Amino acid sequence: MRIFLTGATGFVGSAIVPELLRSGHRVLGLTRSEAGARKLIEAGVEPHRGTLDDPDGLRRGAAQADGVIHTAFDHDDFTNFVANCDKDRRAIEALGAALAGSDRPLLITSGAGIGSPDGGGPAREDVFDRAHPNPRIASELAGAALLEAGVNVSVVRLPQVHDTVKQGLITYLIDLARRTGVSAYVGDGANRWAAAPVLDVARLYALAFARREAGARYHAVAEEGVAARDIAQTIGRCLKLPAVALAPEDAAAHFGWLAAFVGLDMPASSALTRARLGWHPTGRGLIEDLERMDYSRPPA
Ligand SMILES: NC(=O)c1ccc[n+]([C@@H]2O[C@H](COP(=O)([O-])OP(=O)(O)OC[C@H]3O[C@@H](n4cnc5c(N)ncnc54)[C@H](OP(=O)(O)O)[C@@H]3O)[C@@H](O)[C@H]2O)c1
Repeated sequence: MRIFLTGATGFVGSAIVPELLRSGHRVLGLTRSEAGARKLIEAGVEPHRGTLDDPDGLRRGAAQADGVIHTAFDHDDFTNFVANCDKDRRAIEALGAALAGSDRPLLITSGAGIGSPDGGGPAREDVFDRAHPNPRIASELAGAALLEAGVNVSVVRLPQVHDTVKQGLITYLIDLARRTGVSAYVGDGANRWAAAPVLDVARLYALAFARREAGARYHAVAEEGVAARDIAQTIGRCLKLPAVALAPEDAAAHFGWLAAFVGLDMPASSALTRARLGWHPTGRGLIEDLERMDYSRPPA
C-alpha cells in the first residue's frame, strides 16, 4: 500500500516510517521544509511538501494514497495549544474529505488524557467525552464527525512518548530545570503521567493501521503512570540540581505554560488496546530512558 504519513519527520512519525517500510508499504511523507524533504528521501520516503494550514495540499496527499496516518501537529509554541488543536481539527477534516466515499483508512493522533473518566481513575479507550476540557478533544471530534459520515477513522492516543533523546513534555521540564537551576514538581508530586517508548508506539501505529477498524480508539501506553516526583528527582539527579516541591499557587510563576500540565494526574490504561491488537510493549521505562540520556548534549 501507499500510505500518506503526516508528521513523517517528527519524533513519532520518523519511528513509524521504518515500521511501514518493513511491512512492504510505500510512504508519502508530509513536510514543510526542504531539509525535511531531504531527511525523508534519506529514510526511503517520498516527500510531499505542504503544511497543516493548506487543506488542498493535504487533500492532494491523501488522494494519492491507500490510507493516511496523521501524526503532524504544530508544537512550535505551546502557548498556542488551543489554536493548534483547532488547526489539527481542520487538517483532519481535509484529510477525511479526500477519503470520503472509500474504505481507505485514516488513523489520527490524540492524547491519552482524553480518555480520563469523569469520576477519576486511569484514562480508558472506551471513554470519549465530547465535552472534555482538554483542547485536544477537537482532533477526536473531527474524527468522530468523519466516522459518522462513513470515513474509516480510528484514533491512537499518546502518553509521554520517550527515548533517550526526547520525552514529550518532560523534554521541556528538563530545559526548564537547566534554566532555573531546580527540578520542580507540584505539591507532593504524586500525580502520574502515563508513558511509552517511541519504538513500541510506532509498532502500535502499524498494527492499528493494518487492522483498519473504523471507530477504534487505541492507547499506546506502556506504563500506566509514573509519578511526577520520580520524574523530577531523576532529572535533578542527572543534572546535579536539587529537586524541589512547589506549592500549587507558585506553579504558574515557575512553569509558565507548562503549569497547565505539570500538576495533572494523567494515568492511562492500555488493557483494551493490548487485548485488541496483541500489542505488548518491550522497550525501556521512562525513568530508565531519563537515566540513560546524555545530558551534555544540547536539548532536543
Ligand atoms: N511526543 C509525545 O510525547 C506526544 C504525546 C502526546 C501526543 N503527541 C502527539 O503525537 C503526534 C506526534 O508528535 P511528535 O512528538 O512526533 O511531534 P514532533 O516531533 O514535534 O513532530 C511534529 C511533526 O509535525 C510536522 N508539523 C508541525 N507543524 C506542521 C505544520 N504547520 N504543517 C505541517 N506539518 C507540521 C513536523 O513536520 P516538518 O517540521 O517536517 O514540517 C513534524 O513532522 C502529535 O499529534 C502530538 O501532539 C505526542
